[in-house]
Amino acid sequence: MTNDSDNSQTINLTINGVAVAASAAMTLVEAAWHGGVPRVTAVSCLESVCGSCRVLLRRGKEVTVNLACQTFVEEGIEAVFLPPQVPPLHHYEIGDFTDGWNIQARFHEIFPEASHCRNCHGCVRSCPKGIDVEGAIALAAAGHFRDAGEAFLECVMCELCDSACPELIAPAHVGLFCRRITAHFHLRPPNLIYRLEEQRKEKAGLAAGESHYTISPFVKGGSR
Ligand code: SF4
Ligand code: SF4
Ligand code: FES
Repeated sequence: MTNDSDNSQTINLTINGVAVAASAAMTLVEAAWHGGVPRVTAVSCLESVCGSCRVLLRRGKEVTVNLACQTFVEEGIEAVFLPPQVPPLHHYEIGDFTDGWNIQARFHEIFPEASHCRNCHGCVRSCPKGIDVEGAIALAAAGHFRDAGEAFLECVMCELCDSACPELIAPAHVGLFCRRITAHFHLRPPNLIYRLEEQRKEKAGLAAGESHYTISPFVKGGSR
């Protein structure tokens, strides 16, 4: 990630109530570490994929949220790292789904709040990955689980949308359900099936090249 501003410039900001003087090239995570801000520990990938560096940002009267590892320091900004996500409130066993015809009914039992969306856009505004969370929730509530799951493809499970939802819909977990249920009722990607089978054979101590199959459709270009 690069910052086009003058990197030699010193930027003064507040992180978790601590005054920090940072270089303009720093992200909020780097500035927190550089400034010795305590308790910024639950941060992981630094590449905006793990969703762990949730931060609340105050610029004057405006309050927003974002991922700290993808947010550069700004003069006068107040940043507060948010605590880790709470355990999900919606429980289900994906293996209990044996009949594809009752998914929608079961979904509404598990996520009864999903049909109460008030279209406040809070989830969309809070999503650091630019996902149309609100639209995806509408798709899920209408039973379009595959489409809803695809809408959540870039989701990093930061759960900022969950925190923003006044109806406690837990959009992040609705998205996860949609992706899981879609995978549950579909064949796995063929190259993954093949790779896993190879690993199973290796584990079982079968000789290299020995196979339950006579040919790999992927290596030999066969039909899928
Ligand atoms: S959909 Fe929710 S959990 Fe996923 S990235 Fe966006 S805000 Fe984070
Ligand atoms: S925050 Fe919740 S209620 Fe508001 S639009 Fe998103 S899902 Fe609907
Ligand atoms: S540290 Fe992983 S998303 Fe920021």
